[in-house]
Amino acid sequence: MAKLLVLYDSQTGNTEKMAQALAEGARSVAGVDVDLKYYAEPKELAEADAIVIGAPTYYHDITLPIKQVLEEAAKAGVKLQGKVGAAFGSYGWSGEAPEQVLEILKNRFGLKTIEPPIAVLYAPKETQLDDCRKLGKSVAEVIMGK
Ligand SMILES: Cc1cc2nc3c(=O)[nH]c(=O)nc-3n(C[C@H](O)[C@H](O)[C@H](O)COP(=O)(O)O)c2cc1C
Repeated sequence: MAKLLVLYDSQTGNTEKMAQALAEGARSVAGVDVDLKYYAEPKELAEADAIVIGAPTYYHDITLPIKQVLEEAAKAGVKLQGKVGAAFGSYGWSGEAPEQVLEILKNRFGLKTIEPPIAVLYAPKETQLDDCRKLGKSVAEVIMGK
């Protein structure tokens, strides 16, 4: 089984809805094991074939739980080069976090990133949830080599 990790933070549920839709899209591809969680140990990142991060923007920044996971992975020295990466998140007015996450995945950890990230203003609309499903499905297809 190919492994797809969807890691997210969400304080008021908007990014969580996106994460659930993305996981649903990924699960529509046979042979992909999708894990949806808000914390992951470095080993779990190392074991995943794709890492998709849901990051809401707070204070123009990525929130601490996501930073913590990335910092722990960096400290543990896990090798993530060549894995597939993507990012998404809800925001209110500036929305930097998904871009920042993608930049870290690409330049700090060497993932092959799918761009652009999906950024949604506050609560996702049904069409935007569809975009998340599509992103999940395409990441899953990439790691299945389709
Ligand atoms: C204290 C606070 C700070 C925020 N800072 C920002 C910000 O700097 N830029 C931005 O685009 N949105 C900001 N927002 C808006 C949130 O990103 C927005 O409410 C988003 O939908 C939250 O996603 P979540 O439900 O997944 O937590 C902030 C919201 C709060 C409550």
